[in-house]
Amino acid sequence: MAQQSWPQELQKLPFNPLLSLVFLIPFLYIFKRIRSSKPNLPPSPPKIPIIGNLHQLGTLPHRSLQYVWGEEVEALINKIRDTCLTGGSVNPSEMFTATTNNIASRCILGQKFEEESGIIPSLKSTIGGLDAIFDQVIGEHETQKIDDDQPNRLDFDMFVAGTDTSSTALEWLMAEIIKNPRVMKRAQEEVRVVSKKSKIDMNDINKMDYLKCVIKETLRLHPPIPLLLPRETLTSVKIGGYDIPPNTRVVTNALAIQTGPKVWDRPEEFLPERFEGNPVDFRGQDFEFIPFRAGRKGCPGLTFGVASVESVIANIIYWFDWKMPGDNVQGENLDMSEVSGLTVTKKIPLHLVPMPHSS
Ligand code: HEM
Repeated sequence: MAQQSWPQELQKLPFNPLLSLVFLIPFLYIFKRIRSSKPNLPPSPPKIPIIGNLHQLGTLPHRSLQYVWGEEVEALINKIRDTCLTGGSVNPSEMFTATTNNIASRCILGQKFEEESGIIPSLKSTIGGLDAIFDQVIGEHETQKIDDDQPNRLDFDMFVAGTDTSSTALEWLMAEIIKNPRVMKRAQEEVRVVSKKSKIDMNDINKMDYLKCVIKETLRLHPPIPLLLPRETLTSVKIGGYDIPPNTRVVTNALAIQTGPKVWDRPEEFLPERFEGNPVDFRGQDFEFIPFRAGRKGCPGLTFGVASVESVIANIIYWFDWKMPGDNVQGENLDMSEVSGLTVTKKIPLHLVPMPHSS
């Protein structure tokens, strides 16, 4: 019988070509599968295994983040200064949105928010809309389906959940202090006494007790998410004498709780003084005040969100005085109607004239 053998040149090779193919083909197949199944994830700073991006925060993470806040707030102030030169008005809602987007995207996604570059729109279309994101975040948390891709998905979810809420809080705060000149005056006096330098830092802000009361009162009267996301009961419970069966959908109305006349004195009025010397806080221990929800499902971005609001508002009332556009238009008459979207925002966007403050 004729022996089939390799051509002589192949026999001289230092390896067996057939055997190599036997190993190479499965390897190439697996490699291709891995590459083609790799999802197109949202951007994030390069991470290293196990610790992710922690190393990039440095040894003093609060100082690094104070990354970002300092630069972005300075950019906002410069933009408002430019408007002052022309004597025009600004739309603070738009500016707050851009600033909180930039702060959150730089801290969370590692990239600046650029509407033109398409980073954020492409992320939104990748995942399929904001409502879907919330549904999915809830689903993932409840079923504990955590996979390797989750850090990136969560980075993005954090970004979405963090930007609208913070800019909405800022818009309502600004509207309330324009409507209540007494509160604006007191807050500005405090900020300008505590800070007498070109940059307001977190140490200064921590001494601004009245400003913190103003922020609390804004979140009490205008929680950015007034109707908290629906949850379901796991077992049967008794509440107020009523039997609630398992799997009942529960929607908590934070606004109704925070303006309940049995708990709050003059609940519909904007009175930051109610929080002076009052230990009631929004950190989830006081169930009459829950703008960040409470318990295990409470907002994980609370500290970040509050710090962003504090640093933006302290700076813009330090550097500028504010008035309504037009002669003799009083802030007291400001329209406070609401419109409901992902968050509840002002129906008629705020327009204000900034005037540089000279000490
Ligand atoms: C003033 C600012 C903010 C307010 C008022 C706020 C409020 C809330 C509330 C009420 C919830 C709970 C929703 C619910 O389950 O019913 C929530 C969840 C969440 N927040 Fe915030 N938030 C703020 C800022 C932020 C920031 C800055 C971030 C991220 C950096 C963030 C990230 C999240 C995330 C990821 C969730 C979902 C948590 C989960 O899946 O259980 N939030 N927020």
